[in-house]
Amino acid sequence: MTATEKVEQYLKDNAARFEEELKEILRIPSVSTDAAHKPDMLRCAEKLVHFFQAAGMQEARVVETGGHPAVYAQSEQKPDRPTVLVYGHYDVQPEDPLDEWETPPFEPDIRDGKIFARGTSDDKGQFFVHIKAAEAYHKLGLEYPVNYKFIIEGEEEIGSPSLAPWIASHAELLKSDVLMVSDTTLYAPGVPAVLYGLRGLAYIEVEFKGGDTDMHSGMFGGAVPNPANELCKVIAQLKDDKGRITIPGFYDKVRPLTQGERDAWAKLPFDEEEFRKSVGAPQLCGEEGFTTTERRWARPTLDVNGFCSGFTGEGAKTVLPAKAMAKISCRLVPDQDHEEIAKMMEAEIRRLAPPTVEVKVSFHHGGPAWMNNPDHPINEAARKAYRRAWHAEPVLMREGGSIAIVSDFCNTLHIPAILMGVGLDTDNIHAPNEHLTLSDFHAGIAASAFLAEELAELGSWEK
Ligand code: BES
Ligand code: MN
Ligand code: MN
Repeated sequence: MTATEKVEQYLKDNAARFEEELKEILRIPSVSTDAAHKPDMLRCAEKLVHFFQAAGMQEARVVETGGHPAVYAQSEQKPDRPTVLVYGHYDVQPEDPLDEWETPPFEPDIRDGKIFARGTSDDKGQFFVHIKAAEAYHKLGLEYPVNYKFIIEGEEEIGSPSLAPWIASHAELLKSDVLMVSDTTLYAPGVPAVLYGLRGLAYIEVEFKGGDTDMHSGMFGGAVPNPANELCKVIAQLKDDKGRITIPGFYDKVRPLTQGERDAWAKLPFDEEEFRKSVGAPQLCGEEGFTTTERRWARPTLDVNGFCSGFTGEGAKTVLPAKAMAKISCRLVPDQDHEEIAKMMEAEIRRLAPPTVEVKVSFHHGGPAWMNNPDHPINEAARKAYRRAWHAEPVLMREGGSIAIVSDFCNTLHIPAILMGVGLDTDNIHAPNEHLTLSDFHAGIAASAFLAEELAELGSWEK
């Protein structure tokens, strides 16, 4: 048996155990937004240390970053092979609304070939594939094809506030040849993706204040300003009837899609009506002149993510609200600057707001879009590995979500990145009944092992 055949056999023989071990991590409610889960964060980090040790890492430890702990691990670093830095996040989104889960979010359940629990697809089930691939080499007594470094953080879902500065101050420790991230999706079931772009994010929160307190809308309505009405009016003006964002300067730095991208994406198998049905909306929408795929992967957006004002309980209460609040975010594309865009959003909202309301704006976390060179040889290595694991031709694509820290790694360490997503866009990440398809979880472990071999074969590359 060749080394590869031994690895493949090992993965088959141990598949059931991998699933059980993943469940152990999934049972820990490592919700980063909720201070009540602080002890769970450490518990989850410590569990990961154990799995890194079992995978043969020479060093594996919980690292204090100032916020929720991260986990760092590395194999013995040998000079004759490339170093792969694997990034992932063990923190998860809150589980609410709890009553919409068919089985409890932190009691993993396998049905229809899928594993259901919060964090299965985002991101525990995804980064775990790399740990298990490394374990295969270790347990078989084979040398790892690459030097491994792992950094698994606990604050991705809150914008990685502690990891960004930590990367900068640990650049020497993290020195590597390529960043490897599994925190995205396949193109479609069974169709792997060679990903070369993610969107960025600018996020603000706006509050309009009218009177000092909620009032009787019959006694005061019509004469005292209504901040809910006014905020709606302002928001409505942020996009025109062609779906374009009206904020002055917003599109100035947007890198246009290339004709090559547009042609290639137009050829991808995509059924618009099926997509519409899958999201359940009566009709799709978007910026004029762009396809659904282009709108999702390569055009900036502006969306209200939350809106709150007045009486929202059962029945009717005639009240004139004192305040209205909206959380508004923009997905960004290269080369927009997220801080600049957030400031533009604020300036335009202040300009549009009537003098009858007081305006408060605060800024949430954000980050720039990320883009790789799609022609880089590491993508060819990825393509080969994915073909071997999924027995399907990979699709060169971009995606609409954001992993802000990827740009920090790439810019600080001057390395390219491979984003090997094993999820699907139907996995319900951030939503009830999050799940991961088990065949993709196992294919992902094989792909990680094959990719290590392909990168070793490549030897070195331009960074
Ligand atoms: N894994 C996702 C991002 C993602 C999902 C990218 C699917 C591509 C496809 C990540 O955990 C996430 O949720 N990111 C947030 C931003 C973050 C700053 C909270 C996002 O995209 O909203
Ligand atoms: Mn994620
Ligand atoms: Mn997420």
